Amino acid sequence: MTDTPWWSREDLWRKIAIWVTSFMVLVLLFLTVDTVRAITEGGERVPSFSVINNQIFYEFDDERGYQVPRVGGPAPLFGEMLDEDAAEALVRLGKLTVQAKNCMNCHTLLGNGAYYAPDLTKAWLDPGWVHEDSREDLMMAFLIDPEGNARTYGTGRRMPNLDITDEEARGVIAFLKWMSAIDTNGFPRGFTPLAQEETE
Ligand code: HEC
Repeated sequence: MTDTPWWSREDLWRKIAIWVTSFMVLVLLFLTVDTVRAITEGGERVPSFSVINNQIFYEFDDERGYQVPRVGGPAPLFGEMLDEDAAEALVRLGKLTVQAKNCMNCHTLLGNGAYYAPDLTKAWLDPGWVHEDSREDLMMAFLIDPEGNARTYGTGRRMPNLDITDEEARGVIAFLKWMSAIDTNGFPRGFTPLAQEETE
């Protein structure tokens, strides 16, 4: 027998520690599964890769108070409709190129990276590509030879030539188009997209 009050007994606190830890493990597991579902392609926020076959618009959502991406009618990238596997392969090539060439050393993607050059999340919809008919060609030309096709917007900053092949550039453009269709809760704020002629 001991006269320790019940609330300071060691075995009570040991039990509480075990219960709290077990509960938090469950909460973490739930959050992990929920997050993976939210960021997996083909879900509500991240479209499947074949979205690169369609037009992508921005539309102001009154309820949420910012612009959200909307998938429009057919607009095949480089004029070629791709099935899900081919679209995934192309987007994957683009993502691997972006990683291999370390674009994040200067750019941000979905807000992650460096702040030397513009965020690439919505680069596909940048008004700098002038018109949707010229966009693919201008993006290709820029990625293959960024020095010769510098845009710089008066910042004086130049993107170096990264020795990207035509196929890699096509992949990068597919990756950027797909990324622009991700619902990013309005990030980046106040973005004005390229004007597009809507087809349904
Ligand atoms: C050394 C820094 C640097 C690296 C690395 C770099 N960029 Fe850039 N990039 C820039 C700068 C600076 C600009 C803006 C100047 C310009 O547009 O001429 C730019 C502009 C761009 C644009 C146009 C942005 C827009 O919104 O229209 C795209 C697209 C782009 N880069 C893609 C890439 C990709 C893809 C990679 C990796 C393969 C990459 N960049 C790596 C510096 C860099």
